[in-house]
Amino acid sequence: MTDVVIVGTGMTKFGEHWDKSFRELIAEAGIKAIADAGIGGEKIEAIYGGCMASGRFIGQEHIGALIADQLGLNPVPSTRCEAACASGGVALRNAYIAIKSGEHNIIAVGGIEKMTEVSTEEASFALGGAGDQETELFHGATFPSLYALLARRHMHEFGTTEEQMAMVAVKNHSNATKNPNAQFQREITIDTVMKSPYVAEPIKVMDCSPITDGAAAVIICSKEKAEELGLKGIEIVTSEQASDTLALTDRKRLTELNATKEAAKKAYAKAGIKPKDVDFAEVHDCFTIAEIMAIEDLGFFKKGEGGKATEQGKTALNGEKPINTSGGLKAKGHPVGATGIAQAIEAYNQLLGKAGERQLKNPKIGLTHNIGGSGATAVVSIFRKWRDKK
Ligand code: COA
Repeated sequence: MTDVVIVGTGMTKFGEHWDKSFRELIAEAGIKAIADAGIGGEKIEAIYGGCMASGRFIGQEHIGALIADQLGLNPVPSTRCEAACASGGVALRNAYIAIKSGEHNIIAVGGIEKMTEVSTEEASFALGGAGDQETELFHGATFPSLYALLARRHMHEFGTTEEQMAMVAVKNHSNATKNPNAQFQREITIDTVMKSPYVAEPIKVMDCSPITDGAAAVIICSKEKAEELGLKGIEIVTSEQASDTLALTDRKRLTELNATKEAAKKAYAKAGIKPKDVDFAEVHDCFTIAEIMAIEDLGFFKKGEGGKATEQGKTALNGEKPINTSGGLKAKGHPVGATGIAQAIEAYNQLLGKAGERQLKNPKIGLTHNIGGSGATAVVSIFRKWRDKK
């Protein structure tokens, strides 16, 4: 089977885009990615697009066809992928499989969400659809409240503190100041987080990812096609996916996300690496506790030690395992359908030395971790410098 290579990327700035429509965001990210790859759009054979809830956010469905139309790429097949906040990651994985299978040689993969067209209350309801309708949303459980349950249990079992969670937010805001595409461009302190109001105790406003508009796109290619066209990029070594119960009440444990552990186990085995070999990771920090749990479930730190590792600076830009160099969902922003693609773009930038002020020193292997809902879907992908393999 062929290698799969990302040969171009494009994204809009993440934030509140009052001046741009959903369609304009798609066009901006898609056109930038095609131009970055240096190919003509007519070379694209298929499109996969991640989008969670455009029907609820802007009243538009049938996003696959809309993307092809917006990019002037009709009649190529264009497919929407929906897996809540993991929609982008699932789109990338399906496109990766389509290239691996030999069915296609060049695919445009994107993600989009425009969330600020509705009130925060309506957005919370739309996002709540990623959880279990019968046992959670129907009873008023929003996503901050579900992650509050996970945080409480983690604090109870391992002594994780609200200050340690705040440190995730401080780090990710700091990284975001070095990312021109990030929603928040301001440093914050532990005090800022601790004094922000509770949304669902112990989760405060500053522990949450924000409500965001944005789109991101990558062009992926078979190794043979990339060589034929003289394109450069990074290799998607593998992309693995796992599922878990929608409802938290059906889970065996609330201090870990089993789908993350399963997807990671398969990804490490396929890539032939161990967690210690990963130089940096973009993890799904929709809430600060989610980053702490992710760095444990991905095997970077022992279960229960994610908070301490954060406190010790191990996940900082200059730490032993830099996490969310882009600013993460917390500070780069979280336009849910686009997040999984934006994570891959950070991997691309870091591995090719294009990450500007937040550039790490010669990283060789990057990992992305994209979660749907409270962990009912997880996608873990591993990337490396393409030519390193030869
Ligand atoms: N982090 C940092 N600052 C935030 C923020 C966040 N998550 N959310 C809002 N702010 C800031 C805004 O920038 C604004 O600052 P300004 O006054 O300087 O312009 C201020 O707080 C008020 O913003 P507003 O939009 O009125 O906030 P809100 O109260 O309507 O929404 C939350 C705040 C936390 C409820 C909302 O961001 C939220 O629901 N986040 C979670 C999203 C989610 O669940 N995603 C899916 C995860 S699975």
